[in-house]
Amino acid sequence: MPHFNYRNNTLLAERCSLEDIATEFGTPCYVYSKAAFTEHYLSYQRALSDVKGNICYAVKANSNLAILQLLAKLGAGFDIVSKGELQRVIAAGGDPQKTLFSGVGKTPEEMAFALEKQVGCFNVESSEELLALSEVARAAGKTAAVSLRVNPDVDAKTHPYISTGLKDNKFGIDINLAVEVYQKAHDLPGIEVVGVDCHIGSQLTQLEPFLDALERILMLVDKLHDLGIELQHIDLGGGLGVTYNDEKPPAVTDYLNRVKQRLAGRNLSLFLEPGRSIAANAGVLLTQVIYLKPTAHKNFAVVDAAMNDNIRPALYQAWQKVQVVSPKSGKNRQWDIVGPVCETGDFLAKNRELSLAQGDRLALMSSGAYGFAMSSNYNSRGRAAEVLVDGDRAHLIRERESFTDLIRGEHLLKEAAD
Ligand code: LLP
Repeated sequence: MPHFNYRNNTLLAERCSLEDIATEFGTPCYVYSKAAFTEHYLSYQRALSDVKGNICYAVKANSNLAILQLLAKLGAGFDIVSKGELQRVIAAGGDPQKTLFSGVGKTPEEMAFALEKQVGCFNVESSEELLALSEVARAAGKTAAVSLRVNPDVDAKTHPYISTGLKDNKFGIDINLAVEVYQKAHDLPGIEVVGVDCHIGSQLTQLEPFLDALERILMLVDKLHDLGIELQHIDLGGGLGVTYNDEKPPAVTDYLNRVKQRLAGRNLSLFLEPGRSIAANAGVLLTQVIYLKPTAHKNFAVVDAAMNDNIRPALYQAWQKVQVVSPKSGKNRQWDIVGPVCETGDFLAKNRELSLAQGDRLALMSSGAYGFAMSSNYNSRGRAAEVLVDGDRAHLIRERESFTDLIRGEHLLKEAAD
């Protein structure tokens, strides 16, 4: 993570000390680097500068308004999966016309809202959804641009919970049935078929599954062409992995060069929906050791961040690096880094060789994607603050949640009259 480095034995985000940020904004706190977000996005933009299409950042990875605003200013489009995400894009100054609406369960109400806001394209995942969209579009007197999300049945070779392109997964339309659904879509009122889409999983560290999926999709594009259905774009979804530990995912340029080679000579625009590869290594979760609790069997460092702040270790056995913000010399011991939540699954990291003292600040690295975005209020813990660093300035981009935030919308029962 090049924008998070030590200077004078203190970990910095760009030129801001994480000690200072912890003191000013408190912990737990998510800290993002503007330069890292920008660089990661621009690596996609540069690689696609010579082809038609767009990079549609997957909002679910990190949906803070300031992050969406930053990416919108750089020219990004967005990939959304709910009305709420579309409202965020609009609130951040993003362009709905550069937005793709994905997701397996869009409601008619969400469809109507998205049509009214003129989203660029609906990625439709079933025949039933197609019929519903046709109905909604007709009723609104509008036409919905549609791409069918197909399930190409390739193994993304990633964690089963984040693998989406296999027959067993709930996502997309079986590629073998896709021609039929395209023909149906072609004839439906209120629907304009414009593209084809797939997303085979997340945290992919090899190119082959992407390229296999592309081959299968191009075969479908050709079949449709023979039937008189001409597609304008192909959307390969997100999924490119990042380095958490020692993974060596393909570089964005290598990935996209291979895709561009394969698309050469075809009149197809290219859309992508990257989330993690833009956000993960642009942020850390900053936390503080409350107690050290060595036991006969294991040493626990109890910190003030917990599974409600970052559920990835509990949910996917995710490994994220732990760095001490101001390391002191001392004997290393093995620690489990655990939170205050009453669950055995409440850990951020296990078996880490560190020299720790009470009060130390720690940074859980690679936390910019699916960190805050998946956080909850479990154990009535307010969600963490979020800070965006730009050079030597640290901006609070989301306040830590207060008790008032926690109980907003809750009602006590009225006491009975007698
Ligand atoms: N497009 C669609 C339709 C998706 O479902 C996803 C992610 C993306 C794009 C972005 O994929 P990315 O580039 O970030 O891999 N919470 C999990 C990851 C879940 C991914 C869900 N879909 C985690 O923390 O590992």
